[in-house]
Formats: sequence, structure tokens, C-alpha cells
Amino acid sequence: MSKPRVFITRLIPDQGLNMIRQVCQVVVWPEKLPPSRSDLLKHTSGIDGILCLLTDTIDGEVMDASGAQLKVISNNAIGVDNIDIPAATQRGIPVGNTPNVLTETTADFAFALLMVAARRVVEGQQVVRAGGWKTWDPLFMLGVDIHHATLGIFGFGRIGRAVARRARGFDMNVLYYDPTPDQSAKTVPINAKPVDMDTLLAQADFISIHTPLNERTHHMFDKDLFAKMKPEAILINTARGSIIDSDALYQALKEHRIAFAALDVTEPEPLPLDNPLLTLENVLVTPHIASASCATRQKMSVMAAENLLAGLKSQPLPYCVNPQVYQK
Ligand code: DGY
Repeated sequence: MSKPRVFITRLIPDQGLNMIRQVCQVVVWPEKLPPSRSDLLKHTSGIDGILCLLTDTIDGEVMDASGAQLKVISNNAIGVDNIDIPAATQRGIPVGNTPNVLTETTADFAFALLMVAARRVVEGQQVVRAGGWKTWDPLFMLGVDIHHATLGIFGFGRIGRAVARRARGFDMNVLYYDPTPDQSAKTVPINAKPVDMDTLLAQADFISIHTPLNERTHHMFDKDLFAKMKPEAILINTARGSIIDSDALYQALKEHRIAFAALDVTEPEPLPLDNPLLTLENVLVTPHIASASCATRQKMSVMAAENLLAGLKSQPLPYCVNPQVYQK
């Protein structure tokens, strides 16, 4: 029996890749940058399964390019906003993602951004390297306290809760608001208080975003929301860039209507060097690396492989985002 044909849109960590190579005929996109639209369509032709990344737009046209034999789409990410899920469901194609494994790693990074922003760590390093450290000075590089401050968590699924647990260690007062509650996130006893959005905005010293990008959350952080935040508020985003209206954020930061933004995700990605946000001193941008620990990226590749292999055998995906395909 011939092996199933699979297209992997970029090199992934070896544990997941080896699982796939053992049983499939695999083409891995060899470049550092994602395949272009035409390359994606070309390589999807005649395949049985695709393992893609959040940088690949997988819509109905790509699904149809396989010649109607595509059995599974496995995303090497928890977020699936790059995939047209209704189009996949309509075609009976299960879509897999990688929940759980990146929760703690992403929460670590969100908290790291919070701390770095509050205590001006990156700026401190720049000052030292530029020869600006002349003496100890009572008024030099003053930041804000993290302990006993109020953290507002926007989105209280697994990652939001993991951030709340970290905040407890700093005796923070934790508030949360969830626009799209994640039913699969188990309730854990956390000293966090549910509040409405306006209360979260008005009271939080730090706001950390942990919700998926969807029609409801797209550009949710806009001019009106920034106007309701404290002028000293620090905004942290490790979810998706398009949850924030970038133009409104630029204005809010430029006019110091909020104090600082620490962003691991931007709109677009990568953020072009001439993007106005990069002209501001009160912005810190990292290159979408919140889940980037060696161990977590290996685990994500294994989960993505498990989804892919299950789909190729017409078995239910262990981590499926459109289980409706099995109800037909
Ligand atoms: C995801 O899995 O959606 C993350 O953004 C990757 O870091």
C-alpha cells in the first residue's frame, strides 16, 4: 500500500517530524520563509494531509487544491485564525491544533513581558551599553511596582489562568474578563475576581490579553477602550496582534493616554521596520516567541503529528477544533 502524501509547510522540531516521516511520503517546505500562495497551492495538489503553521493561510481554495482527497489539516499552533474552519467543516476535513502544551510557556513569557516593562529592563540594558550608567541615582530609571498592583486578564482560558497563578506569587490583585469563555478550561481555585470590561479597564495597572482572535475580538482594543484605561496602564499582548487596533494603540501611546505596550504579537507580522509603533519609546516588541522554548516546540510538533497521523487513518483527531465533522 502506498504511503500517504503529506506537505509540511516548514521545518518543524525533529520529534514530530520523525513520527510523520516513518509512515508518510513527506515534502517539507525547505525555505526559512513561508511558501508563497502559489507555492502553497502547488504543493497541496494531490496531498492527503497538510501540516501548516500560523503563517499559512489555509482557505477553501487551498483545501480544494488537493483534488478533493485532503483528509486532515494539522496546525502547529493552538490559534487557528489562519484557517477557514467553516470551509474545512463544510468539506468534512478535520482540523487539529496544539492546546495545553504551550500554556505554561506562554504564561511565563507574558509575565516576563510584564516584569520587563514595569521595571524597564530592556531600557536599562540599552543605557548601560550606551555608556549612560554614570552613578547610582535616586531618580534614575524609576519603574512601577509589580507586587500588590492590579492585573487585569482579558480572556480567562488556560493561558489567562496560568498568568493569574503567577500573579498570585507577586501578591497581585487579579481581575478578569472573558469575552469568549473557554468551556474546556477547567475551573481551578484562583484568587481572581470576575469583573465587567469597564471595571477591568478602569482598575488594572497591567492588562494582559489571552483570548483567541475571532470576529468578536478583532480590533477590540480600540480608541474607546484605551480611553477607559488608566494613563499609567501597561498593556501586554501574547495572543494575536489583530485583537488590538494598531493605529489606535499608536495614538494612545504617543499621547501617553496609556503608559506602555509590550507586544509579542503584532499586526502585521513581522512588524515592518517603518511601522510607526517602532518610533515610540514606550513600546517593546518581541518576535512572536511566547511559546518558543525547546521543550514546548517539540511537544507542539508531536501533537501536530498525532493529529495529522490520526486524520490520515480516518481516525478522530486527538485535538480537533471542528468535531462537527464527525457528527455527519
Ligand atoms: C499559537 O500556538 O497559536 C501560538 O501563537 C504560537 O506561539
